[in-house]
Amino acid sequence: MDLWEFLLFLVVQRACSGLEVTVPLSLQTASPGSIVLLPCTFRVKDSTVNPNFLAVVWKYGEKELVKFDNKGLTSTLKASIDPQAALKGDATLTVHDVTVSDEGTYKCIVIYSPEMDQKTIDLRLQATPSVKMTKKALLKNQKNRLVCSATDFYPRAITITWRRNGQVLLTSNTGEPQGNGDGTYSVNSSVILNPTETQEKQLIECQVEHESLGKPITDEYSVIYGETPSVQVFSLEMPGPRDMPGQRERVVVCEAKRFSPEAITLNWKLEGKLAKTPGKNEDGTFTEQIYYRVYPSPDNEPEDFSCEVQHETLLNPITQTHQVRYFSDQDKSNHLGLAFLLGMLVSMAGIGVLLWFLLYKKKYFQHFMVSPIYGPETSNENDKVTFYCVAFNCLKATEVTWCVTETDGKPVTLPHPRTKDEEERLLGCDYTMRTDQSGDNKLQKVITALIFAPSVSHHSNMTIVCKFTSDGKTKETELKWSFTLRKPQVSDEKPIALSLGDSGDVICSIELKDFNPKDIGITWSCGAGHYQDLETIKDKITENSQKTYDAKSECRIPGNRFTEPGFKVRVTWRHESMEEPEWREVSAADLPWCPQMSDISVPRLLHGKEAKLQCKISGYFPDALTVNWLRREAGKPDLFPVSPSDKYKIPVMNVTRQEDQTFTCIASIIVNVSIKPDHRAEFICQVGHLTSTLEKRTGELDVKGIPVVDVAFTSKRSDNWLIANVRSFYPDQITVKWSRTKYDSKYVEYPDITEEVTKSSDGTFHLITKCKAKKFKDKKSFKVSVEHESLESPIEKVMSPHKDSFFVTYKESRTPLPQITSDKEDGHPPDSAKLHEATEK
Ligand SMILES: *[C@@H]1O[C@H](CO)[C@@H](O)[C@H](O)[C@H]1NC(C)=O
Repeated sequence: MDLWEFLLFLVVQRACSGLEVTVPLSLQTASPGSIVLLPCTFRVKDSTVNPNFLAVVWKYGEKELVKFDNKGLTSTLKASIDPQAALKGDATLTVHDVTVSDEGTYKCIVIYSPEMDQKTIDLRLQATPSVKMTKKALLKNQKNRLVCSATDFYPRAITITWRRNGQVLLTSNTGEPQGNGDGTYSVNSSVILNPTETQEKQLIECQVEHESLGKPITDEYSVIYGETPSVQVFSLEMPGPRDMPGQRERVVVCEAKRFSPEAITLNWKLEGKLAKTPGKNEDGTFTEQIYYRVYPSPDNEPEDFSCEVQHETLLNPITQTHQVRYFSDQDKSNHLGLAFLLGMLVSMAGIGVLLWFLLYKKKYFQHFMVSPIYGPETSNENDKVTFYCVAFNCLKATEVTWCVTETDGKPVTLPHPRTKDEEERLLGCDYTMRTDQSGDNKLQKVITALIFAPSVSHHSNMTIVCKFTSDGKTKETELKWSFTLRKPQVSDEKPIALSLGDSGDVICSIELKDFNPKDIGITWSCGAGHYQDLETIKDKITENSQKTYDAKSECRIPGNRFTEPGFKVRVTWRHESMEEPEWREVSAADLPWCPQMSDISVPRLLHGKEAKLQCKISGYFPDALTVNWLRREAGKPDLFPVSPSDKYKIPVMNVTRQEDQTFTCIASIIVNVSIKPDHRAEFICQVGHLTSTLEKRTGELDVKGIPVVDVAFTSKRSDNWLIANVRSFYPDQITVKWSRTKYDSKYVEYPDITEEVTKSSDGTFHLITKCKAKKFKDKKSFKVSVEHESLESPIEKVMSPHKDSFFVTYKESRTPLPQITSDKEDGHPPDSAKLHEATEK
């Protein structure tokens, strides 16, 4: 409120107002671009308004839009009031062409001197969305994207909900509304549908809720399924007439087939530009036709003719290009001419064939002539084949007759249909013909097509004749054709490929190649002796470059089923080319995931200690492994199984699954080692998996015995003897030395009496050695030192005199303990550098 208003306000308060301004209570809404009336009326005490006392002001925020007083009206084209009405108490504001920026609060101020009253009124803009869903035929067993667009709405907030048969689809994805530049918004929302064969009728709804709408707008689509056209562009050369054999012509054909629904658009593109189609369009069997004139380039450069096909099942048009060279080099000189595009549509049984013809013709060359018959080289059709023939420069009343001689010599003639009825009748036969005629009155072009479903019995060897009769002249052209069956080929080496699925399934797949026709039945079954049918994951049939078909089929088998004895998986296929179905099988023996064994790791084997032998087994599938430990006695050939006992422990294996789905485990045995019977014996790890067995051997074991040294002292009269008993060592080579300290405390060798090494009952060796210590009083220390190959450094025992005896003060041996490999799957042995150390009094 500015000062001026404030003062007036005071005036009004004082003067016990007779002035009253009225506006609607609710906010006003309007759509962009419309004319809005913001109503404002007022009443004064006097029955009539004295214009000298009246002032009306409209404000939008702080901005004055309109002012009307005794000096006149100030307004804009955009916003104004009617002065005449104002004098009668109606100050309604008219705003033209409202936009989003006109939203806000408007103030209607009326001064009737000395009184003043004012009211505010809110204007809100609302634009109702237009809702449209793309309604395109869906492709089965594929991801299809449906888009629903809500356009030109305001304000921005909007809700789009998708439903399928009434159920909300939560997978929909609505983008951010985008501004349209005029303040309104548009947004796209999409869902991905993956309809399968089995799904019933589907009604897809796109529902849009917006504040401008009393109730939601819904667009709906009852799903229909379609097929994508396959497009081929080809050309055929027509022979020149007898007197001008060099004058050849070319017809370029664009064929779109096996599509549905029927609506389709074909365009020729010449040098990347859409070819205009100034020719006539006539209705007929072929529902569309177009001619196009082309002047071939004088230098006889090859030209690209592209055919662009648009169909509702396609996101982007299919474009196929064919290169045409008008003349062979010898007739470069006469290359003036025209080319025509001619298009036609044939539809049959829901699947259409659309053809566009482009033909080049020389201007001065006006003989009645007929093209060769064009047809598929081998039959690669699942159902029907189409043969084409074209005639030029014929009269309007040209008749076309197709004549077919089947394998058995039986001729079938299809005469030119004279009425619609006849055409219908022809359609019902094995053979169908369609003919279209167009052009100016004098010189016509006729295109005709013969369509039939080939079979081995009738069409393995046939002749097709196309005959045109015009103006009493008859021209015909003949084609020999054979329908050949191609037997599915399968790899001899590994017909069934095997791989592992994530969930431990075996995926079996087979590829059958190069067969014709397309129809093939592939079934999977499995069992032992008795076969049960399996569900196939997918059969994929593709046309290959030889115009025949390849099929790939897959099924999944739980891996553990292969452990059943005699279990097999069989794939069987049936095809028209084979009298009997063929099959191939796989069994457990074919599974490529056989176990791999590492060498058995053997730690240092020491008499009287436990040792763990272990072997890593990996890469096998399924998890059906048997492990046996066997033992061969030293010097004997026979193997004996090892069973758990005091001497042998066989820990439970820990099996782990690897990323590639195969299994890994570590087989181990813990042996309480002794020289007898383990030295030179051998352990064997035998692994059985499905049909395979394999083994690893330790080789002859080498067991060592670490010497144990006990010392004693005996005294007989004046003879004092120090005795060392060395035992439990293996092998028998051993070095025992005695020494004694001299005055400088250094040890020097000292004479001894050492017995022969003898063998103990447990297979180890022992000996007794002694030396004579004459006196105690000289305080000399004695040392016995034992060297043996099982020791890293000698065992030394020092005996020092103490009173009337000796004490053993020090003993050391530096022999690593036997390696006990941990159970950890990495198989790393524990720190093997631990030293055995003991002190004994
Ligand atoms: C919606 O999709 C159509 C067609 O793809 C596109 O032209 C349009 O710009 C999109 N609109 C928005 C708001 O994204």
